[in-house]
Amino acid sequence: MAENAAIGAPDRGRFITFEGGEGAGKSTHIKRLADRLDAEGLRAIVTREPGGSPGAEIIRHVVLSGMGKLLGPEAETLLFAAARDDHVHAVIQPALEQGIWVLCDRFSDSTRAYQGRLGQVAPGVLNAMERVTIGRLKPDLTVILDVPVEIGMSRAAARRGTGTPDRFEAEDIQFHRQLREAFRQIAQDEPQRCVLIDANTDAATVAAAIWSAVSDRLLSAAPARNEIASA
Ligand code: TYD
Repeated sequence: MAENAAIGAPDRGRFITFEGGEGAGKSTHIKRLADRLDAEGLRAIVTREPGGSPGAEIIRHVVLSGMGKLLGPEAETLLFAAARDDHVHAVIQPALEQGIWVLCDRFSDSTRAYQGRLGQVAPGVLNAMERVTIGRLKPDLTVILDVPVEIGMSRAAARRGTGTPDRFEAEDIQFHRQLREAFRQIAQDEPQRCVLIDANTDAATVAAAIWSAVSDRLLSAAPARNEIASA
């Protein structure tokens, strides 16, 4: 990575999050973007939420088993927040500080959509948790993959095969419709940070749209917008 000659510090890595409903193709496209960045000579790591660090992976297991649901929406949100806190401090911040790009499968917009819009956890509660877990860390770019709910759910079912649906996959179609709307709303509210991409098309077209957003918005001279988490 380029050195910042003024202060002699390495340029911070860029932080890109991927969001969307079930079966939108996030994992496929994160992998493709990591390969593309590698081909451009940029170091990148791929990580995910909930999880991404040893402590957070334990919490992931609890949440996706449905145990968190039994505790109620706010306590379940606290579990996601605890996982995020560990992940940010153990993995994301250290990588960005070393100039490594971080590609994360889901981040705080998933909490806003799943726990906020769908779980009806109040915005004030979510804001307080964000202050503690991510401080001023903001993604430099959030890619929101958008697919019709029926298509996403059938892709997720095909991927799962004979396995049991997890805590959120098991929710009804109305839940998933509202979820799609929640992500579209986030994209509309924060166009500087977010790009909404039609993922109901072939993978090469989606990958090209993602690459165009990354190169237009992040491969210019602009410095990284993410900052050191204050927590
Ligand atoms: P995962 O198997 O990673 O699903 P997907 O392939 O759809 O990303 O499971 C993560 C689930 O956790 C997913 O259904 C979304 C949910 N989730 C939340 O409800 N809140 C959050 O803050 C995060 C990060 C995920």
